[in-house]
Amino acid sequence: MAHRRLGRRRPRPPGERDHSRPRSRLPRRPRLWQRLPRGPEGRPPRTDPRGRRLEEGTMKVMAIYGNPTREGFVHGALDHVAQRLAATGAEVERLRLADAAIRDCVGCFQCLRTGVCSIQDDMSGIIERMRAADGFLTGASVRNGYFPALYKRFYERITYLLGFTRDLGGKHVLAIGAVGMATGKKHLRRQLMFDGFQTSPVAYLFFHVGIPTRLRVEDVAGRLDRAADRLATAIASHAPLPLSARLSGAINGFVMRQFMFKPNPGGVYDYIVQRWRDKGLM
Ligand SMILES: Cc1cc2nc3c(=O)[nH]c(=O)nc-3n(C[C@H](O)[C@H](O)[C@H](O)COP(=O)(O)O)c2cc1C
Repeated sequence: MAHRRLGRRRPRPPGERDHSRPRSRLPRRPRLWQRLPRGPEGRPPRTDPRGRRLEEGTMKVMAIYGNPTREGFVHGALDHVAQRLAATGAEVERLRLADAAIRDCVGCFQCLRTGVCSIQDDMSGIIERMRAADGFLTGASVRNGYFPALYKRFYERITYLLGFTRDLGGKHVLAIGAVGMATGKKHLRRQLMFDGFQTSPVAYLFFHVGIPTRLRVEDVAGRLDRAADRLATAIASHAPLPLSARLSGAINGFVMRQFMFKPNPGGVYDYIVQRWRDKGLM
């Protein structure tokens, strides 16, 4: 036998236990992926914007209309999915960014230190309502290969108060994007899915609609309905974060903790550090 002549161990047939090594009696350490955060991280009980505790079983979905227009394919597709969700018993709140007063972030970093934005407009109310939501339906069109400027302005205002705090951690997102001809799909996806906020992606539907828009919502109603049902199921079943999201969250969390929040120069991250401590992340 070649393996004996060469002093190698006989290859073990599948299923046979290796008796040469004693079995450890110590409890087995959980593997890396079993130690990663699963879904909502220390999220407080769900409350409405006034702080009232919500009844168990009420599914709250916020539909975010990210285009500056009040019509068009994306608008219609969001309406369609919102109606489907409402028909399944979800409480759907529509947020049309074009109708909200949202000013540019001025970069004062007061929110990082205190948790309160220095700008007084509609954003503080929007942020509270986003914290209370179980899931999101988002939509916008590609503009100049990216996403609409309006959506960018909104996104900058939630980055620290919802992203750094991980207040959207584990919340499910269904996103709908559209483009006239080509490009912009990835850029749009990152924003619509709140990439880096530890959200749980359910689906990203991306449509080529033509210039001017020729695709009709009725043409894709089946896809929209199926995606709406997936979102409702993910929320109702408390589906855990996908492994890839948990891994990237763990790496991202390590970097932020070590290089930003632990050094906390001049107390600039005071509010975020406190929130991470409250959630057991630090
Ligand atoms: C200012 C502006 C910029 C646009 N940039 C692009 C682009 O870079 N690539 C592209 O294929 N379509 C582009 N489009 C077309 C839009 O993506 C298309 O009209 C949109 O997806 C239609 O969606 P709606 O019917 O919901 O408005 C642009 C449209 C506008 C108004």
